[in-house]
Amino acid sequence: MRSFLFVPGDSERKFAKAESTAADALVLDLEDAVAADRIDIARGMVREYLSSHRDRTRTQLWVRINPLSTEKALRDLAAIVGGAPDGILLPKTTSANDAILLDHYLSALEVREGIEAGSIRMLVVATETAEAMFTLGGFAGCSKRLWGMTWGAEDLSAAIGASTNRDENGELEFTFRLARSMCLLAAKAADVEPIDTVFTNFKDSEALFRESQAARRIGFTGKIAIHPDQVEPINRAFTASAEDIEYANRVIAAFAAGVGTVALDGKMLDMPHLKQARRVLAMAQARK
Ligand code: COA
Ligand code: MG
Repeated sequence: MRSFLFVPGDSERKFAKAESTAADALVLDLEDAVAADRIDIARGMVREYLSSHRDRTRTQLWVRINPLSTEKALRDLAAIVGGAPDGILLPKTTSANDAILLDHYLSALEVREGIEAGSIRMLVVATETAEAMFTLGGFAGCSKRLWGMTWGAEDLSAAIGASTNRDENGELEFTFRLARSMCLLAAKAADVEPIDTVFTNFKDSEALFRESQAARRIGFTGKIAIHPDQVEPINRAFTASAEDIEYANRVIAAFAAGVGTVALDGKMLDMPHLKQARRVLAMAQARK
């Protein structure tokens, strides 16, 4: 799962447009992209879209609900679970307790709707409040539904009163780089997928591609998109290139003799490199 495209939950036009992209998943949004007085319309539209798109082999359908701290959250779930979403994106998570609560809600609603128990997965946005930053390490084993963790720079800025999260050169300020790294480590610690956050300047595909490549290099496995044009650069950045595959094959060949440390192109390689090479090939294999 390389690309998750956000689609406002009340826009017929954008639902249609999203279908023409190669996004691995759409995230039908019931939270910030929907105006307060349109929430009922959006819930109905999302439910209808899910119900009429049952074949998810090419594109998974996820839904971003409202934060559990609001009374909207449970109403969102009650309205849409019957459409059997592949997963729920939970914003403004404060700790693993939120993931556990969502798991219970989903368990009850799956029974009510006659959906396979445990089938709906969860992706939590785990850095959107200051307090969330201090509970990030606690997600391991909290729920079998937990599929991934992602982070958000925009809501965290608002939460801490920062007027910007980037410096004059467009680089993330330290607090936000910290949130990004902590999210990555937290996801790995919980053995779930780390998914990088949105790149808001949707006109700059080159910068998005570079940011996506950098994210992949440090261990993220996918990224969130907010515009159809962002899907292709993200998919490209998170797909092993021919050179990546060739290099991984050479690394594996170098270790074929069964030794623990080898030299390749003048560099020392040991077990972590072999592990990474296998990961690249597994990723390439999974996309075939
Ligand atoms: N999903 C599907 N289609 C989208 C889309 C999205 N996220 N963003 C834009 N489109 C469509 C537009 O409707 C337009 O289609 P049309 O030609 O049929 O009208 C086409 O893509 C080109 O869009 P463009 O004119 O470049 O952008 P815009 O000004 O219409 O929209 C945003 C810009 C930022 C408002 C829009 O991209 C958007 O709504 N993004 C998602 C926001 C969101 O969900 N945020 C919450 C998560 S942070
Ligand atoms: Mg937000």
